[in-house]
Amino acid sequence: MLPTIDWEDGAVVMIDQRKLPGREVYVRCRTAKDVAKAIQTMVIRGAPAIGVAAAMGLTLEVRRSHATGTTQLATEFYRACELLAATRPTAVNLFWAIERMKRVFAAAMLAGQSTDELKATVGAESTLVHDEDVANCRALGAHGAEVVPADARVLTHCNAGALATGGYGTALGVIRGAVEAGKRVAVFADETRPFLQGARLTAWELVRDGIDTTVIADGMSGALMRAGRVDIVVVGADRIAANGDVANKIGTYTVAVLARAHGVPFYVAAPVSTIDLSLPDGSKIPIEERDGKELSHLGRAQLAPHGAHVWNPGFDVTPAEYVTGIITEHGICRAPFDKSLREACGVA
Ligand code: MRU
Repeated sequence: MLPTIDWEDGAVVMIDQRKLPGREVYVRCRTAKDVAKAIQTMVIRGAPAIGVAAAMGLTLEVRRSHATGTTQLATEFYRACELLAATRPTAVNLFWAIERMKRVFAAAMLAGQSTDELKATVGAESTLVHDEDVANCRALGAHGAEVVPADARVLTHCNAGALATGGYGTALGVIRGAVEAGKRVAVFADETRPFLQGARLTAWELVRDGIDTTVIADGMSGALMRAGRVDIVVVGADRIAANGDVANKIGTYTVAVLARAHGVPFYVAAPVSTIDLSLPDGSKIPIEERDGKELSHLGRAQLAPHGAHVWNPGFDVTPAEYVTGIITEHGICRAPFDKSLREACGVA
């Protein structure tokens, strides 16, 4: 499996996704601050992956602590939670993971655990967060494989692969699941301007797996669908509101509208940790605004002239009406989403 993030000699090691596909470079984090910086600077990105990274960052922080008592350890732990929560606003998996770690920490404090025991508890929970994420991706991949035709041309946007999760992937998990089920799958990967997660990361992953991959510029997906060359769209998600509105990488909404116009099914693949039932609809999802330089420049080369304004939202919201189904580890949710998503989350 791809080495997205792992432990090595007491450090958290991540593949530097900014450098792919040209170079396989690894970044070593020794503190929660290092992990926060890695998330903020996109060394690691993708909703589930940043949740896993945050949980591991909290483990780093408590393990390195010299706190002499549990109150001091708690202060350091909660400070690290705040630091990590301030890194990126849209992907709810980040906050989900931090809240989960807080709950476990608080329960362990209440149970009277010593500092050493608390450190072990936090470490064990972050391992669970990571392992469960991989297992969830495999489970949703198997469910999603059922809606992929036997000979399928799949369009995906951004990177919702092993690199964006603890491993295996969500949208790419569905593609991997379909391939493992014996289906013939060819993938069109939107390049995904401006950070190019599709051209750089999705194509890198799929080519490594020997899956037929064609990179297209974002503006080409309409022509491709009109030519009848897309059977199904599968994308990931950063946050799904209670009514099924989906925030995902900027450009996803365009793909969804095009898919509807051409009668192509549009599926979203995400673990339930991406579902935010506290938000009634997508209008309340915080959308990250990113540095305009991502758009006006390509590396050091300037593309847009000085003086041009740049609008660079990292994500958009696709209204639920465009979504054919939301593929989770518990099965495929369909409209009415307010009911099916609550069921997937185990909420009565
Ligand atoms: O800005 P990014 O690269 O973190 O955005 C990633 C996406 O939008 C993914 O599609 C989403 O997080 C799902 S990842 C399984």
